[in-house]
Amino acid sequence: MWALMIGSQRAGSASSLVAQQLTRRLQTIAPAVRVDAIDLAAARLPFWGESSEEGAGSSPAWAPISRTLAAAEALVAVVPEWHGMVPAAVKNLFLYLSDELAHKPGLIVAVSATHGGAYPVAELRLSSYKNSRICWIPEHVIVRGCKAGDIATTQRALAEVDERIDHALRLLGLYAHALRGVRQGVIGAGHPRSVAFGM
Ligand SMILES: Cc1cc2nc3c(=O)[nH]c(=O)nc-3n(C[C@H](O)[C@H](O)[C@H](O)COP(=O)(O)O)c2cc1C
Repeated sequence: MWALMIGSQRAGSASSLVAQQLTRRLQTIAPAVRVDAIDLAAARLPFWGESSEEGAGSSPAWAPISRTLAAAEALVAVVPEWHGMVPAAVKNLFLYLSDELAHKPGLIVAVSATHGGAYPVAELRLSSYKNSRICWIPEHVIVRGCKAGDIATTQRALAEVDERIDHALRLLGLYAHALRGVRQGVIGAGHPRSVAFGM
């Protein structure tokens, strides 16, 4: 099973349209792979520490997300560019993580209404992996010229990068397979206490 995170925190987003297309492509490329979506617009995950008891245990909304990520072999992260950043809901999800995504491959798919999309890629590559230990694969996809609620425009934007999408999804499958051995090795050896939160 692969997890597919829809990183826009608003309903009717272009990111959700992009996610639908990615799911369709994956069904063609790798029909045996089940895709479980995590829609941050629907999940209503409170900001970390917002409730009286801090941490992952305090939010019932986190439990099903945690289970899905823990069971997943790979993550596809569809992330819009908002003010040159990833939406706060995406960073919030990373605050909740413990080792659900550790040593699992992730594919970043950035979404922009205009010519953007590079910033969310750079931000995730720079600052999301240390504690989570997610392994973003070298390839990413940027879907430019998308429009929230406009399927035809977003389909045209997706058509511009269809070859990249298929290639990146195939590659993610190869990394998912290859990193199984890494996770098994880590489970055997464990992380030293001094690097419990990454290095
Ligand atoms: C608060 C906000 C800020 C945005 N800032 C940017 C931006 O910096 N760069 C960009 O390319 N698009 C920006 N956009 C446009 C999004 O790329 C556009 O809404 C696109 O549909 C992806 O976002 P969505 O998945 O939430 O629909 C912004 C949109 C919102 C709602």
